[in-house]
Amino acid sequence: MKMALNNHLKLEAFAQLTKEIYECRKCSLWKTRKRPVVGDGDTNACIILVGEAPGYWEDVEGKPFIGAAGKLLNEFLKKVGLSRESIYITNVVKCRPPGNRDPHPEEIKACGPYLDRQLDLIRPKVIVPLGRHSTSYIFSKAGVPFKSISEVQGKIFEAMFWETKTYLIPSYHPAVALYRVKLRSDIERALSLAAKILNNQIMI
Ligand code: URA
Ligand code: SF4
Repeated sequence: MKMALNNHLKLEAFAQLTKEIYECRKCSLWKTRKRPVVGDGDTNACIILVGEAPGYWEDVEGKPFIGAAGKLLNEFLKKVGLSRESIYITNVVKCRPPGNRDPHPEEIKACGPYLDRQLDLIRPKVIVPLGRHSTSYIFSKAGVPFKSISEVQGKIFEAMFWETKTYLIPSYHPAVALYRVKLRSDIERALSLAAKILNNQIMI
């Protein structure tokens, strides 16, 4: 197993990763993207949120979750007492699929190793995959079977990553909650579980 890096080396590794992602042509999404979206937040965070892929505004600005879904996500985070600055947010796929279509399996396969490296550098205590694509990817890494997001959202799963117990708390994707308003309380609950684990407010 690799040892966790000290902060200076970690920042260097992130800079290298950013450079590689900006130059990446491992799947065809580089052709239509304006900017890749590497991720944002605290690289020493204990919690990482993993979305699906950049949308229109993310592609323009190069930052994750800044469009309508991002604004809703910010509201949920605020409600459960988490700030964007204290967590890290990224996506499974770093470049925007044209017209915001779902990412194709080969795009997830090509891009996934960047997320793996981010996870390995940050080594968060809690991973919150947002939506089915992200959950399916993270669960497969953890060896947890995945059927549907509705079945697993808001539940706590344990995985051994980096020889350390890591908690996976899948959530519905905030973009879905823009029009399926009833799902908002589920997302809030999943995020509040993540916050409680961090604050040692629940015993597992
Ligand atoms: N949806 C995502 O999955 N990620 C973003 O960054 C924005 C919208
Ligand atoms: Fe590379 Fe990922 Fe962008 Fe595809 S989506 S070009 S694999 S950075």
